[in-house]
Amino acid sequence: MPTSVFLLLSSFLLFVFLLEAVHGSKKASKLVSLIAHSFSTNLYLLIFASDAAEFPIIDLLLHHRISGFVYSVTLCTWEHTLMVPTLLLLTSKLLRILIMIYLVQSWKGIKSWFIAEEKAKEAMIYSYNRHINGFAALLEEEEAADIAKNPNVVSVFLSKKYKLHTTRSWEFLGLQRNGKNSAWQKGSFGENTIIANIDTGVWPESQSFNDKGYGPIPSKWRGGNVCQINKLPRTKTNLCNRKLIGARFFNKAFEAYNGELVPALQTARDFMGHGTHTLSIAGGNFVPGASVFAVGNGTAKGGSPRARVAAYKVCWSLTDPEGCYGADVLAAIDRAIDDGVDVINLSVGGNYVVSPEGIFTDEVSIGAFHAIARNIVVVASAGNDGATPGSVVNVAPWVFTIAASTIDRDFTSNITINNNQQFEGASLFVNSPNQAFSLILSTDAKLANATFRDAQLCRRGTLDPTKVKGKIVRCIRDGKIKSVAEGNEALSAGAQGMFLGNQKRNGKTTFGEPHVLSTVGTSDGHSGGQSDFFLTATDPIKSGATIRMSPAKTLFGRKPAPVMASFSSRGPNKIQPSILKPDVAAPGVNILAAYSEFASASSLLTDKRRGFKFNVLQGTSMSCPHVAGIAGLLKTRHPSWSPAAIKSAIMTTATTRDNTNRPIQDAFAKTLATPFAYGSGHVRPDLAIDPGLVYDLGLTDYLNFLCASGYDQQLISALNFNRTFICSGSHSVTDLNYPSITLPNLDLKAVTITRTVTNVGTPSTYTASTQLPGYNIVVVPNSLTFSKIGEKKAFKVTVQASSVTKRRTYQFGELRWTDGKHIVRSPITVKRK
Ligand SMILES: *[C@@H]1O[C@H](CO)[C@@H](O)[C@H](O)[C@H]1NC(C)=O
Ligand SMILES: *[C@@H]1O[C@H](CO)[C@@H](O)[C@H](O)[C@H]1NC(C)=O
Ligand SMILES: *[C@@H]1O[C@H](CO)[C@@H](O)[C@H](O)[C@H]1NC(C)=O
Ligand SMILES: *[C@@H]1O[C@H](CO)[C@@H](O)[C@H](O)[C@H]1NC(C)=O
Ligand SMILES: *[C@@H]1O[C@H](CO)[C@@H](O)[C@H](O)[C@H]1NC(C)=O
Repeated sequence: MPTSVFLLLSSFLLFVFLLEAVHGSKKASKLVSLIAHSFSTNLYLLIFASDAAEFPIIDLLLHHRISGFVYSVTLCTWEHTLMVPTLLLLTSKLLRILIMIYLVQSWKGIKSWFIAEEKAKEAMIYSYNRHINGFAALLEEEEAADIAKNPNVVSVFLSKKYKLHTTRSWEFLGLQRNGKNSAWQKGSFGENTIIANIDTGVWPESQSFNDKGYGPIPSKWRGGNVCQINKLPRTKTNLCNRKLIGARFFNKAFEAYNGELVPALQTARDFMGHGTHTLSIAGGNFVPGASVFAVGNGTAKGGSPRARVAAYKVCWSLTDPEGCYGADVLAAIDRAIDDGVDVINLSVGGNYVVSPEGIFTDEVSIGAFHAIARNIVVVASAGNDGATPGSVVNVAPWVFTIAASTIDRDFTSNITINNNQQFEGASLFVNSPNQAFSLILSTDAKLANATFRDAQLCRRGTLDPTKVKGKIVRCIRDGKIKSVAEGNEALSAGAQGMFLGNQKRNGKTTFGEPHVLSTVGTSDGHSGGQSDFFLTATDPIKSGATIRMSPAKTLFGRKPAPVMASFSSRGPNKIQPSILKPDVAAPGVNILAAYSEFASASSLLTDKRRGFKFNVLQGTSMSCPHVAGIAGLLKTRHPSWSPAAIKSAIMTTATTRDNTNRPIQDAFAKTLATPFAYGSGHVRPDLAIDPGLVYDLGLTDYLNFLCASGYDQQLISALNFNRTFICSGSHSVTDLNYPSITLPNLDLKAVTITRTVTNVGTPSTYTASTQLPGYNIVVVPNSLTFSKIGEKKAFKVTVQASSVTKRRTYQFGELRWTDGKHIVRSPITVKRK
């Protein structure tokens, strides 16, 4: 078989650039990366909707692929005049990487490719011809500008660089290994569901992915035995197995931007720990005796512990959670769909997009739409940019968007100051516990050349070793989620330990982190807490005070829990204000799970502590795979359910109460969390597996929603694979059959919305109840009787503000349907103009 095929079909029609698999042609992939180098300025992603039927050659390529990867297929048309909604972005000099999405309605009358074939050939680095139909290419900015002027160009946008946004959490969510009514039993522990993780790769030797006791790989897996992981000197050759059934990496965009990776790094092996951590949360085995440092000893496990898992590596930094490129993410999604996975968990999210076109220019949203069409559930993190209002990402209605909250287990140490004041804080370990040391504020140990602010945050090169040596240094937390660099500065200045205070934006959330020295992190209201750096005269936290740290302990049954994490991104949804986002909350603080043994404990380069089988991490990246795991259970239990039904089940059974049975609190003093923090609430898998009713949705519903949102019909058709979609009938954005209800723009007129529920339980009669202070709300009919499974019933909800209703303020309420056994709850969010 030829290892590379290059077809140039006449000068104007199309050209096809075919590369055999990564395993195949060295020559061909060299060519691509060389070219990538010579065009290192900009990366463009071109996405075409192709009509295979009109194009026999493409059809051939798409449907009779020579085994391996088809890397690039380029097509073009001049026929239709379409809009360029985000052309403006092209002029931005700030972002060096550019992604372009070209969407065309039809291939009728193909004329000419817009740039010389040679250039285009050189420019391409990916094609997404499996399910997404497009390609990624590197182009000069001027070329891109030229292309953008073309009337067929629908959408041009800059490629985003993505951020990555045990195991007590499952018990906290109510799952019991031997409990008869537990979702684990009912969902057969996620048996044979295939969960894909698009992240930093996997540490295949982890016990979480051992295949002992697993039967043959399910036949629905179409990924073959591709396992792109390099072996270690003493490990076995076949690193994938019947549990970890596949591993691939996608680095073309990363390399285009950063240069070629050395061969040893061209692997799906996880060098950072994040991907191993998240994959084991979603689908890791039961592994007893999991702990890190001195704390957290228990059995690690994933939400779908008997699921099969596959890793798709797209994030390449060894130290920071960035370094994932949209073009690589999309290639991974395209591949995962083709491989036959059931659940895709995406730990990545861009910066938040504020234009409505974002829905078409966000790689996650596009990839997810195509995945949903193949009945794959796509779970993604809400982001770590909280608590800024409107910071939530991954907001398309077909994406399942997850916020992060705390659990009832803490890793705790007490700090005692001057023998009389005690603060409780988070800590994974304390060396020399209970020993008295002298405290020094980092600002009192500041080097002359450092700024006050930098010293406060113990940034690099700010502390004077002669002042810090042998003491416990007081620093203020710099990072929102991971914040371990302060410890590095403290340690290199000779500190004995660190007392890390929160900034105001960290609220009450405290983090057990793998610091390089003994550290206790507190949220106290002293410097860094509510008073945000301002010390009072009576504050005991002064240089010269004596300070002791008690041994770090694991404490269970802490109350209240969950509390929303300060970093979890918040609504409202700026792109689609009529869809509440995030959708639900799940555990994302102090999560213990499997880790890469290559990565250092803190993931700092200077940290020599390696070989950790488990580690504690935080973020919506950790809450997201919890929901991926739960979706895996539901998928096993109810194989015929649509992704929307699975999502509905998890949403309508979520709770807004904590373990004291009071409303869930926010991380900030005295405030209660709202649906903008937790969506429908905190997930409850045992209830989700038997929700009673679901709000189902199909692709047409999403497309009608886009019509109602006022998007260009041709743009919508393009998203709809290759099929023309005619916006017809009268659809309202608020009628999307979503499991939550959001009316952000009410006047005094009554507004009526429609929803349809599908019975997925036994025959039953449900009655409605509502609560929405300040508004009149009526449900018609308010009783629904179902006699069989699959029966659908519609109802209407009418909401009306009165002249005394407060204006421009969000009001939250709820709609419940109950048959005495199930409660099917939807949050209601309204605002009077
Ligand atoms: C963890 O717990 C198990 C069982 O309770 C025990 O055998 C093991 O020694 C513990 N490991 C650590 C590191 O404490
Ligand atoms: C799931 O997605 C989250 C965030 O979107 C990510 O951090 C995590 O790595 C992913 N895990 C899996 C199992 O894919
Ligand atoms: C901290 O002190 C409190 C009150 O004295 C105590 O209840 C708690 O167990 C202590 N925590 C640790 C980790 O020692
Ligand atoms: C300040 O000077 C010291 C010693 O010359 C150096 O190590 C450190 O990096 C400098 N710090 C800053 C913030 O420039
Ligand atoms: C495009 O259309 C062809 C023929 O109508 C169909 O077989 C193919 O699956 C479609 N592609 C996508 C991505 O839907």
